[in-house]
Amino acid sequence: MPTLFTEANELRRWRSSLPTDSSLAFVPTMGALHAGHERLIQEAKSMAGNVIVSIFVNPLQFNDPTDLIQYPRTLDADIEICSRLGVDAIFAPTPDEVYPPDQVQVVSAGTLGSLYEGQHRPGHFDGVLTVVDRLFTLVAPSVAIFGEKDYQQLTLISQMAAARHPSINIARLPTVRDPDGMAISSRNVRLTPTDRASATKLYESLHRLQELHLSGVTDAKELGRCAIEYLKKFDSIALDYLVCVDADTLERIGSVDHPTVALLAATIGGVRLIDNVLLKP
Ligand code: PAJ
Repeated sequence: MPTLFTEANELRRWRSSLPTDSSLAFVPTMGALHAGHERLIQEAKSMAGNVIVSIFVNPLQFNDPTDLIQYPRTLDADIEICSRLGVDAIFAPTPDEVYPPDQVQVVSAGTLGSLYEGQHRPGHFDGVLTVVDRLFTLVAPSVAIFGEKDYQQLTLISQMAAARHPSINIARLPTVRDPDGMAISSRNVRLTPTDRASATKLYESLHRLQELHLSGVTDAKELGRCAIEYLKKFDSIALDYLVCVDADTLERIGSVDHPTVALLAATIGGVRLIDNVLLKP
């Protein structure tokens, strides 16, 4: 069984009891663990002698209060999954433990934080960077593992870590998908069966975009336009954005002549979903 810490002080004591030369891999999550999180934890196990998972539904990153209330919370099942995967410790704090008054420095996500996902969720990435910065300080891991499913988040965290936590290695893993291609997400449980069927069209549109690129189309706008046209056929899908951008900087590009990522967000039946695929020249 993993040791469960709910207080920052307990966590600090555990951390300082580990031998100085031991490696610690950290998987930050908001719980409701699924096969995507499991892959990150398995990778963590293969990378370090000790593994810690955090489970914290971070209020700072929810710009919509209803979304925060509706976010699934399944701590007992999460503990079981962590136990089965051989996790050493779980940090599941209350907001007061993560954000003690007067001690929290808000980390700004800057210009990139206000684009794409940030444009639709103002303040979201400031909240993400603030909590990850705080967790990095408390956990002090040697490596932290994130999924490419949240591509913009991963890019911003990598930049923040390079500036503020240079000793922490950031590892990334590809998106884990259901057999029908749908990116696994804690939010998927809120989709009705009909909306779940529509949601598979999101990945389908990205897959078509990839195929089109493989067939020789390199114009970023044209690739985007074809995928958008495809999604327009489905009334239940309200597309927020679908863009082809530089895979490192997330800047808009004209042509796919270096690594590119196609980012997408849509709302289906009131549930906001994101996905992405990588394009290599
Ligand atoms: P959460 O949505 O719980 O995701 C935790 C980690 O799991 C993130 O790195 C995310 O990219 C990864 N993940 C989620 N679904 C995945 C999938 N289908 N395949 C691969 N990886 C997947 O992301 C957050 O929590 C929070 O913003 C957090 C970073 C913990 C800060 O609060």
